[in-house]
Amino acid sequence: WSVLLLCGLGGYLLGSVPFGLVLVRLAGLGDIRAIGSGNIGATNVLRTGRKDLALATLVLDSAKGAIAALIALVLAGPLPALVAGGLAVLGHNYPVWLRFKGGKGVATTLGTLLATSWPVGLAACLTWVAVAAAFRYSSLAALVCLALAPVYALFLATPAHAVVFALLAALAWARHHENIRRLLRGEESRIGPKENDPP
Ligand code: G3P
Repeated sequence: WSVLLLCGLGGYLLGSVPFGLVLVRLAGLGDIRAIGSGNIGATNVLRTGRKDLALATLVLDSAKGAIAALIALVLAGPLPALVAGGLAVLGHNYPVWLRFKGGKGVATTLGTLLATSWPVGLAACLTWVAVAAAFRYSSLAALVCLALAPVYALFLATPAHAVVFALLAALAWARHHENIRRLLRGEESRIGPKENDPP
């Protein structure tokens, strides 16, 4: 139990580092929470116009989940790895440093998926790319790929993976309630060049 607790706590603390917020502030662009959707994730960092910062945010936020899960995997095994990755997502979404007002956990969840079951992680990432390429909504791509992750896990991993990924998908959907409302109203902002937007 103490190992599990340590993995969970380590995962939470690692996940709670708000890389998007830190990188945007370090670049002198102000507070990311006052820009675009107000989210601290890579999609919103992209709205600053700095692709490099968005990519760095994506990589670092994914790495939080992946590293937490991999450390727990080596130290304690597959189940603690799922717990540590899941807690990293909770740390990203509810960071103690930001009064528990964090992000939506998509990149950190994908990192956790990749580290705990790379075939599921890969399938989820490819789903994100396919949906984003087809519709150019980052939020829609995230909602679809994370909803499908537990289904992929039933075929490519174990029932325990499927249960944890289903919980993470439910959390991500809950964190996207404003995006879902905007998508339904046709008001969600698209990713990519504006000139390609439908009229
Ligand atoms: O990964 C977060 C993405 O799904 C939505 O981000 O900034 O459009 O709310 P945003």
